[in-house]
Amino acid sequence: MNSVLHSPSLCEAYEPYFRIGAALSSRLIADPELAEIICRHFSSITADNQMKPDSVLNLDATLAQGDPRHAAVDFARVDALLSFARDHGIAMRYHTLVWHNQTPVWFFKENWENDWNAPAAPKEILLARLENYIRDVMRHVNACFPGVVYTWDVVNEAIEPGQGGPGLFRTRSPWFAFTGQDFLPAAFRAARENAAPGQTLCYNDYNAFEPVKRNAIMDMLKPLLAENLVDTMGMQGHYVLPDLNVSACETAARAYASLGLKLQVTELDIHCNSNDEAHAAALTDAYRSWFSMMKKLSQEGLEIEAVTFWGVTDADSWLPGFRREPSYPLLITADRRAKPAFDAVLDVAKE
Ligand code: G3I
Repeated sequence: MNSVLHSPSLCEAYEPYFRIGAALSSRLIADPELAEIICRHFSSITADNQMKPDSVLNLDATLAQGDPRHAAVDFARVDALLSFARDHGIAMRYHTLVWHNQTPVWFFKENWENDWNAPAAPKEILLARLENYIRDVMRHVNACFPGVVYTWDVVNEAIEPGQGGPGLFRTRSPWFAFTGQDFLPAAFRAARENAAPGQTLCYNDYNAFEPVKRNAIMDMLKPLLAENLVDTMGMQGHYVLPDLNVSACETAARAYASLGLKLQVTELDIHCNSNDEAHAAALTDAYRSWFSMMKKLSQEGLEIEAVTFWGVTDADSWLPGFRREPSYPLLITADRRAKPAFDAVLDVAKE
């Protein structure tokens, strides 16, 4: 296997079709060799955690501020990654403004109480907090780092068929529990008002290829589209070998695009629990056929803004922790070599 630092650039190869991105953390960019790998192969980056509400919201400063409608924010982690992106000329996705997960409990509570048993703040206050938060983040990012962020994950993972709610909404999310569906248009309206020209607003979700979930997502997005509040469908793309169904991904991508949405694949990885020869070959085939499908869609004129891997090398994938077994899901090995799957993906671009 070749050293990935000497491989042809992945993002240059895909420039005619879509950006190639990777999720990363401040820890990764502090490693000079990894930083070089990132700059060589990726034309878009996403923070894996540092731009989520729990990384940005600050309880002590919020309490000191004493305004029940306005939480205080701390941009130290956000700025570290935006500085890296700006200094290296790499575009950035902002992940994520609104999510049920990694949002501190106190953000939902009366008097900012840091306790799940405390009463929730009234809906009207919660929506004001949400709008203020979105405005603060977007204004800061656009004022201090103009031109760096090209797309915002406004809402992440609002549909969950397993929870059986009306519209297949994720009813156990505090956002649904405390505001019903009202946070959805409120978040997208605040984002639209504060977006810079050219920035796209994205709805992001996993298993977005599954027909039942896909249809529920489309039903949720239609009224937002009618108000011109959403631009892009973010299909996360956490797949599993050998179940990856490339044709279901294609069908779903076409369905979202038929609504007038642009597309992004925001969190691509293919869980593969062994790196023996047979598994490596299966991973290579899976990546080859998936990228061939995406290239074909781009050539047909579907607007694909980016395909982003959820991690740079296997060493920093979230999957071994989540699956509690080994995982070799990305194109670059833990020791920073290009896998055969990497070369296959490059070949698809050149064909
Ligand atoms: O914040 C603590 C830190 O204080 C502590 O030292 C450390 C020790 O393990 O844990 C830290 O929190 C972890 C956090 O990542 C930051 O590293 C959490 O335990 C861990 O659960 C969290 O996992 C993240 C996960 O989202 C949380 O839901 C993953 O890194 C991140 O890759 C993952 O990303 C999500 C996307 O945002 C949305 N789509 C699914 C995707 C994969 O789950």
